[in-house]
Amino acid sequence: MADYDYENIKIEKEDGITWFILNRPEKRNAMSPQLHYEADDALEKLQTDPDTKVLVLTGAGDEAFCAGQDLKLYFRGTADDPVERAKAAHASNSWRWRRLSTFPRPTIAMVNGYCFGGAFTPVCACDFAIAAEDAQFGLSEINWGILPGGIVSWNVADVMSYRDAIYYAVTGDIFDGKRAEEIRFINYAVPKEKLREETIKLARKLMEKNPVAVRFTKEAIRAARHMSLEQATDYLRAKSDALKAADKEGGRDEGMKQFLDDKSFRPGFEPYKRQAG
Ligand code: ACO
Repeated sequence: MADYDYENIKIEKEDGITWFILNRPEKRNAMSPQLHYEADDALEKLQTDPDTKVLVLTGAGDEAFCAGQDLKLYFRGTADDPVERAKAAHASNSWRWRRLSTFPRPTIAMVNGYCFGGAFTPVCACDFAIAAEDAQFGLSEINWGILPGGIVSWNVADVMSYRDAIYYAVTGDIFDGKRAEEIRFINYAVPKEKLREETIKLARKLMEKNPVAVRFTKEAIRAARHMSLEQATDYLRAKSDALKAADKEGGRDEGMKQFLDDKSFRPGFEPYKRQAG
């Protein structure tokens, strides 16, 4: 059994959902080098954890999802130590982007409060994002004379429209959860008191589906949008064959049988009944 005993993050597992909680509420969950090392280690273990059917990333406490990089410990604290800075930067990019965006199970960013600067990367890395209506988002880098570095500029150019990305990065204007939904930076915003409940609802919906099909589908969408039509056609044909081979529960045949032979479900409205949980 993996050991998830960390100081700066908290891992809680319940009914197939793994809650991945940034846990420095007194610092608004700002990301220190230590937090990055722990988060990177935890995600490495969780990617092969059979109990994790859906991963939810959120922040501890009522106020913040994550206030971005820790200006004191991440920037000032490593300014004279290039080795530590490089190590911290590597861990930071590894968990916030590489490990999260390729996580084999569905991932949901549950944005419960402040979300600034470097915190945009893990929000974009997650497959889904749900926020409290009053959550506050801000590309605050401009306010202290830097640009959205790491890969934040790339993330917002990818997920937001060009106009919104330039607008929010250059003005540093705050936008709330409702506005984040309106500009499609997140899937939807809900009243804060319903945030957890609505997140669980989405997680359960995802858990009803064939997990191999879910994984291959999210990988296909993520990869195909940066391909030419010719590349995508070829890639999707190969990916479909790979899905069939990887799906040990034979979802495609089972679904067809339940629809065509048993007439026990309509795929237009619901997933086929799975034997395995
Ligand atoms: N880095 C380091 N410490 C932080 C950070 C941060 N990004 N954000 C908050 N903290 C610390 C504060 O220094 C303070 O510590 P202290 O109690 O030891 O003095 C504590 O968290 C609470 O912060 P307050 O400002 O007192 O809390 P408040 O609720 O009034 O405001 C807010 C919260 C809006 C998040 C404010 O702290 C803030 O503007 N933080 C910086 C946000 C930011 O610009 N992040 C982007 C960084 S750039 C990047 O990520 C690349």
